[in-house]
Amino acid sequence: MLLRHTLGLFAVASAAWGLMAPVQANTLKIGMILPMSGPFAAYGTQIQNGAKLYLSQHGDTVAGKKIELIIKDDTGVAPEVSKRQAQELLIKDNVDILAGFGLTPSAFAVAPLSVQAKKPMVVMNAATSSVTSKSPYIVRTSFTLPQTTAPIASWAIKNGINTVYTVVADYGPGHDAEAQFKKTFSAAGGHVIGELRTPVKNPDFAPYLQKIKDSKPDAIFMFVPAGEQGVAFLKGFKERGLAEAGIQLIATGDLTDEDVLDAMGDAALGVTTSFHYSEAHDSPENLAYTQAYAAAYPKNRPNFMSVSGYDGMHLIMETLKKTQGDASADAFIAAAKGSSWISPRGRITIDPETRDIIQTVYIRKVENINGKLQNVEFDHIADVKDPGKQ
Ligand code: PHB
Repeated sequence: MLLRHTLGLFAVASAAWGLMAPVQANTLKIGMILPMSGPFAAYGTQIQNGAKLYLSQHGDTVAGKKIELIIKDDTGVAPEVSKRQAQELLIKDNVDILAGFGLTPSAFAVAPLSVQAKKPMVVMNAATSSVTSKSPYIVRTSFTLPQTTAPIASWAIKNGINTVYTVVADYGPGHDAEAQFKKTFSAAGGHVIGELRTPVKNPDFAPYLQKIKDSKPDAIFMFVPAGEQGVAFLKGFKERGLAEAGIQLIATGDLTDEDVLDAMGDAALGVTTSFHYSEAHDSPENLAYTQAYAAAYPKNRPNFMSVSGYDGMHLIMETLKKTQGDASADAFIAAAKGSSWISPRGRITIDPETRDIIQTVYIRKVENINGKLQNVEFDHIADVKDPGKQ
């Protein structure tokens, strides 16, 4: 009912708008929905930085059309706001492509509008596996939690970790991480001896840490959305002496995101994670990327979100080249499927079956490199498809 109502409004409004404002043929509009304020504002900054860096390096014109970015702030975990911003972008701004999406609730809220309006939707962070199944016009350039979780579960069992307490944020990506960790780890003979889900907004970890310590797992596996929550968790982990009690900390790389690594300080040393991007990734493409990023944004460190924004813009521009500027959903998605290129993170491919990303996942450890904390890669698994879809 609600959906039909939205669709109805949309049809009327877009018809009216169509009469009033003919689409400017020489411009292609990309509406980016991102958290630009609130606790997740760094996501918006990083994704936007990456996207803009790509355009500044490669030009903002494709097939004779100029790319116009319109950025809308959805303030974080606020699906109603994301949806309203998308409606405005589609109806008022008449955008050709929707992009961005820092958090899963935002991507979930907008996916039905991508279906109704028949617009491509390029997801540049939101990493719950099922996001891409919510609209046939979604394509993702970030990662999925099952994709980055399975490798650390395999690594753990091979490295003497037999019992694990899982700690995850209580929403889509956390549920995915928890399920995948348990699946991979248990299948290899490991035991998950406790599971904890923490609130997405303002969690307080202190009360849980003693309980986990008392249950004496070999390790904690954790996923919380990148940012301040990880800093708070690590602080508590250190203060309560979990490391001294022999408990290791393993996680997906969201925890030791370069954006907050400096704030974590030495408490992060030795934390082992699995992830698709590290600022310290050793390749000519990443060296060029990190140097260009530092020159353009000296106040930030490049992280996985910036790379996803950069690659997302690469995908948009190269796809529009293939379609000769046709951004209509069917043409765009058909051309995007199977795209493959060398990103700063290594080779990435858009899976033609799922529209999700296939990429190498690296195992890394935080080390101090020339006075700077870095996620140093020491192992990898090439061409990982999202196990959440298998
Ligand atoms: C998500 O909401 O999908 C999300 C947010 C932050 C992350 C990973 C996933 O670090």
